[in-house]
Amino acid sequence: MMTREIPPIYENILETIGRTPMIRMNALAKDIPGEVYAKVEYFNPGHSTKDRMALKMVEDAERDGRLKPGGTIIECTSGNTGMGLALAAVIKGYRLICTMSDKQSKEKMDVLRALGAEIHVCPTNVAPDHPDSYYSVARRLNSEIADSFFPNQYDNLSNRQAHYESTGPEIWEQTQGRITHFVVGVGTGGTISGVAQFLKEKNPSVQIWGIDTYGSVFKKYHETGEFDPQEIYGYITEGIGEDILPKNVDFSLIDKFEKVTDRDGALAARELARKEGLLLGYSCGSAFQGLRQLKHLLPPDAVTVVLFHDHGSRYVGKIYNDDWMRERGFLREEWKTLGEAVQGRAARPLVTIGAEEPINNAIVQFKRFGISQLPVSDGSTYVGSLTESHVIHALTSGEGGIQQLVRTAMGAPFPTLPATASLLDGVKAMGETFNALIVRSQDADHIVSKHDLLAQLA
Ligand SMILES: Cc1ncc(COP(=O)(O)O)c(C=O)c1O
Repeated sequence: MMTREIPPIYENILETIGRTPMIRMNALAKDIPGEVYAKVEYFNPGHSTKDRMALKMVEDAERDGRLKPGGTIIECTSGNTGMGLALAAVIKGYRLICTMSDKQSKEKMDVLRALGAEIHVCPTNVAPDHPDSYYSVARRLNSEIADSFFPNQYDNLSNRQAHYESTGPEIWEQTQGRITHFVVGVGTGGTISGVAQFLKEKNPSVQIWGIDTYGSVFKKYHETGEFDPQEIYGYITEGIGEDILPKNVDFSLIDKFEKVTDRDGALAARELARKEGLLLGYSCGSAFQGLRQLKHLLPPDAVTVVLFHDHGSRYVGKIYNDDWMRERGFLREEWKTLGEAVQGRAARPLVTIGAEEPINNAIVQFKRFGISQLPVSDGSTYVGSLTESHVIHALTSGEGGIQQLVRTAMGAPFPTLPATASLLDGVKAMGETFNALIVRSQDADHIVSKHDLLAQLA
């Protein structure tokens, strides 16, 4: 073990905020050009980078009188800012009320309660200006409670100033000024803007990459200047992406935004735990995945720093829980073969139709089994396929109405693949031509529709 400086005795927990380690990334950085370092912010006492800005917002407000001794702090938070505020409130003697959206993990709420905070849970899927949003509720409580202070981390510029004063200089010093790329998830924008301002003042060519989520407005706004409400929809990733433009995001300092899916962010976080020993929060997976998606832009001598916002302990019931991952279809790699896709279908024998039957029989089968296509069989092999489109085409163009024979209306047989074939093989075999395919396993044939297959790839 390498020798490290022994820290001094601190006067209270707040003095331990900051000076977090930077750790080289090894296994997962092998195919990323240059050197990759992790700025691991869960070493802060509240286990996230937000301790830095929470303390700064409180101390700035104390200095200019917005926060009075014994007052109440009210903040809307995804949990981590609340944790930093809770530590400050405990040591400095304030009451703390946090408004949180109901998608935040229960662990985050329980941890805040453990530190004495009062929690108001608000619905996630409402617009920020809706009276029930966690933002509006915080504002309302602020107007109702005497001697209360609403830090408002989104628009309070003490947030990014904290990172300008501490996180940025630490990163510069730890890389001895060699940093070329800084990658970080963006929520309020405090971390990216504060760090970026400091690094760009030192070296304007340092590239700043912000990681965004699908469902958030940042990337499009940065690229086009348009705030597009069409970009906004519910997502699962916590802490990054927004449906507003917080004042703390200084878009002029950000060189590029990259979006990461909920699934890819979650899987990357799990990989970081297993391959680097870093048990990190959800958005950290997104940040690393974003870097991976952009790695082709890195020169061979790049020195990249990815900031990891928080610790994984707050996500044990979520991304580190296989059932939670499976319910959302995030563990696709566990469902690799077509055989696995039709598991449990033994009791549901394949429904077929004969080539010499009237199409009326097919319509009856569609209705009875709630299906949209049938393999056409001559008793021993598949000689064709009949879909709803075939039937409609026959009814509108043929003479014989519903008594026409299936043979006259059917298309080519569905492709048949072995159960050991992959989902991707299935997609390729279906292509744009077929609505379904036949999976041949030892016991029987089963049909997998395009809909079934695509549902697994979402
Ligand atoms: C887990 C997590 N990741 C990322 C962020 C984004 O950081 P910032 O708000 O500084 O942009 C936050 C902020 O709330 C967070 O809690």
